[in-house]
Amino acid sequence: MLSYIYFCFLHTANILLCWAKKKVQLTYLKASGKILCSDSFTKLPHLAGTEQNLLLAKKIQGQWKEFGLDSAELVNYDVLLSYPNEKQPNYISVIDDQGNEVFNTSLFEPPPQGYENITDILPPYNAFSAQGVPEADLVYVNYGRTEDFFKLEREMGINCTGKIVIARYGKIFRGNKVKNAILAGAQGIILYSDPADYCAPGVDAYPGGWNLPGGGVQRGNVLNLNGAGDPLTPGYPAKGEYRFCTNEGVGIPKIPVHPIGYHDAEVLLRAMGGLAAPDSSWKGGLSVPYNIGPGFTGNSSTRKVRMHVQTSNKITRIYNVIGILRGALEPDRYIILGGHRDSWVFGGIDPTTGAAVLQEIVRSFGKMKMEGWRPRRTIIFASWDAEEFGLLGSTEWAEENSKVLQERAVAYINTDSSIEGNYTLRVDCTPLLYKLVYNLTKEILSPDEGYENKSLYESWLEKDPAPENNTYPRINKLGSGSDFEAYFQRLGIASGRARYTKNRKADKFSNYPVYHTVYETFELVEKFYDPTFKKQLTIAQLRGKLVYELADSQVIPFDSRDYGEALKGYSNRIYKLAKKHEEQLKLYKVSFDPLFSAVVNFSKAAAAFHRRLEQVDKKDPVAVRIMNDQLMLTERAFTDPLGLPGRKFYRHVIFAPSSHNKYAGESFPGIYDAMFDIESKADQREAWEEVKRQISIAAFTVQAAAETLKEVA
Ligand SMILES: *[C@@H]1O[C@H](CO)[C@@H](O)[C@H](O)[C@H]1NC(C)=O
Ligand SMILES: *[C@@H]1O[C@H](CO)[C@@H](O)[C@H](O)[C@H]1NC(C)=O
Ligand SMILES: *[C@@H]1O[C@H](CO)[C@@H](O)[C@H](O)[C@H]1NC(C)=O
Ligand SMILES: *[C@@H]1O[C@H](CO)[C@@H](O)[C@H](O)[C@H]1NC(C)=O
Ligand SMILES: *[C@@H]1O[C@H](CO)[C@@H](O)[C@H](O)[C@H]1NC(C)=O
Ligand SMILES: *[C@@H]1O[C@H](CO)[C@@H](O)[C@H](O)[C@H]1NC(C)=O
Ligand SMILES: *[C@@H]1O[C@H](CO)[C@@H](O)[C@H](O)[C@H]1NC(C)=O
Ligand SMILES: *[C@@H]1O[C@H](CO)[C@@H](O)[C@H](O)[C@H]1NC(C)=O
Ligand SMILES: *[C@@H]1O[C@H](CO)[C@@H](O)[C@H](O)[C@H]1NC(C)=O
Ligand SMILES: [Zn+2]
Repeated sequence: MLSYIYFCFLHTANILLCWAKKKVQLTYLKASGKILCSDSFTKLPHLAGTEQNLLLAKKIQGQWKEFGLDSAELVNYDVLLSYPNEKQPNYISVIDDQGNEVFNTSLFEPPPQGYENITDILPPYNAFSAQGVPEADLVYVNYGRTEDFFKLEREMGINCTGKIVIARYGKIFRGNKVKNAILAGAQGIILYSDPADYCAPGVDAYPGGWNLPGGGVQRGNVLNLNGAGDPLTPGYPAKGEYRFCTNEGVGIPKIPVHPIGYHDAEVLLRAMGGLAAPDSSWKGGLSVPYNIGPGFTGNSSTRKVRMHVQTSNKITRIYNVIGILRGALEPDRYIILGGHRDSWVFGGIDPTTGAAVLQEIVRSFGKMKMEGWRPRRTIIFASWDAEEFGLLGSTEWAEENSKVLQERAVAYINTDSSIEGNYTLRVDCTPLLYKLVYNLTKEILSPDEGYENKSLYESWLEKDPAPENNTYPRINKLGSGSDFEAYFQRLGIASGRARYTKNRKADKFSNYPVYHTVYETFELVEKFYDPTFKKQLTIAQLRGKLVYELADSQVIPFDSRDYGEALKGYSNRIYKLAKKHEEQLKLYKVSFDPLFSAVVNFSKAAAAFHRRLEQVDKKDPVAVRIMNDQLMLTERAFTDPLGLPGRKFYRHVIFAPSSHNKYAGESFPGIYDAMFDIESKADQREAWEEVKRQISIAAFTVQAAAETLKEVA
């Protein structure tokens, strides 16, 4: 039962959401389905800060009340958003030696069929770009990763200072590309989607298939917030008077950034001269040489590139919808299910395949409540705003409620897009949730063809076994890139996310091809990703069951022994990286022994904890609550109030978004970053002293977490 927008496309009106303890038959009301279909979630753009997105918030609020939640409120903040200038569109030109613009990139994406008359489709842009009209020679920087710039600067002798660089989208978060370009001295950066990264072989471009058309362009913000939320109010909710000036905002790039599609990129790249691509990993799928530059060659050699970016930042009101289902026995313990509502355009996949799942889950819980049930603990449902502008709605709410959340939050489950492919399950979560995820996926039927009557666990295990132990399916570390960030990386609340994904071995494209373009429509999902809605239903079941078990089990279903195992793996891995510098380790007396010792101590404490847990008197509410509090606070114990070096809002010592790619998770990030590229640091002694400090912080934190699991007295 996949929510309103999807309802009228479902073949069946009855779908069984099978909870572990109760089986609830959810019957969809046709009449309301029709009404809601008529102005569905994906018919119009729902950009943050617009009237349409406020209307959708109100609609969701109304539905949540109708479903029976105890309350559903809109909570607003005034945050910095960024929009293109309607009168002065953004574009990029090739200019001749007289300064004439002899080629201009397109100003908009051709809208998909049936959406031609819709106004309020913003043209592709990179939110929070600086304004400017820089002119320079172009340099091709591959994906704009740290290693790409190392190659250019250290091996090829290319100096990007004063140049405009062009990077292909993919592999890493776009904001990291922009940061790298700024560090390299570029005065502008163009981001483009290469067919090698945004087209699957043998698939047609949308609408014939699900590949990116040549005129399609990925939107997206280019902030480097490092978890700050609203750029003008880091650390505090964007309410009241505390606010930086716009030009002091956190993470806002100082150079113009603009995205283009591959038809336009081909024209820019065609005449590039200078050095040849260093190897095939620098070549994409266009029929251009992929020369590095700087500048053009042949009869184009006097030409340059000019960027026109007139995007401006604007303080704008955004709205979260917060729904509450009060807990019967432990109302002061919270499980949060949150996902964003705002979209770049129609949001066909991102976020509506997740926002629809949120609606279904609220409906299910509402139905159970109306039948007389209440969860043991309180469930908070959240429809976040302005995720696309830097996780703003979720972070501001986390900031406003940080004290309460730190005392009372048990877990946060994210409900952004539920599909990015149709191959198998993808889960990123805290090790505390591994067992629960494995257990629950064994109770859900696989939606995959050829796996009839098999569990989701079985198809997942077969299609994506864990690299470290192929008797389990893979579970990834949490990085960032969605609204769980403030809850996990800043507040230390156990978190997880789950979605359907592509085949990581066979599919070489990034994201999904039409990600953040105007072609992310309802029809895209219906025709190509999930025609039966089974994949989305499966994800609704998994996310719903996670919330249900976390909210209703007498003992919080966390297993801290898996944290011990994970820590063992992470400490071995970081030591292996360090051992590449064996001589320095000896010379500067760098030892990982304290970390290994703390990890052993944590594992022992976890094992002892779970032995005691098995014997706890379940009829003694205080005894159970004591152990539940230890479980709830295990994740919190891994946070350091001072945060990671230079990233004070990333306070988890075990995990952080990678400093080189916000999307990816890094383990022992403090140690990892201290050792990164350490051989090029001028003062080796000081560099290794920092590694030692970071090892000691990690060891202390793991040991301190172990102490919290020990018997209370
Ligand atoms: C590019 O746009 C500029 C400004 O509108 C215009 O003057 C110029 O003629 C255009 N060039 C081409 C090739 O269309
Ligand atoms: C768009 O508007 C034109 C002119 O009003 C109309 O002929 C056409 O049918 C409309 N298209 C759609 C898809 O609504
Ligand atoms: C790069 O060029 C800039 C300006 O032309 C210059 O100041 C800088 O020293 C150069 N960097 C390197 C590494 O050569
Ligand atoms: C440069 O030469 C190529 C190949 O001969 C031709 O296709 C192109 O139009 C020329 N460009 C200019 C600016 O004259
Ligand atoms: C699935 O199980 C049902 C009932 O046990 C059985 O009738 C059906 O044939 C099975 N389908 C497949 C594909 O194994
Ligand atoms: C994988 O997990 C199984 C079950 O927990 C265990 O018996 C086995 O030793 C593990 N294998 C490896 C290589 O760690
Ligand atoms: C969906 O699955 C089919 C069968 O595996 C595959 O051919 C197709 O490419 C998938 N669609 C998408 C959008 O990934
Ligand atoms: C997972 O299932 C096993 C077997 O039923 C059970 O013993 C264990 O407590 C469950 N763990 C969690 C965290 O749900
Ligand atoms: C681990 O526990 C042992 C025994 O209690 C203790 O001696 C050691 O200091 C602990 N390790 C750390 C890093 O605190
Ligand atoms: Zn999203």
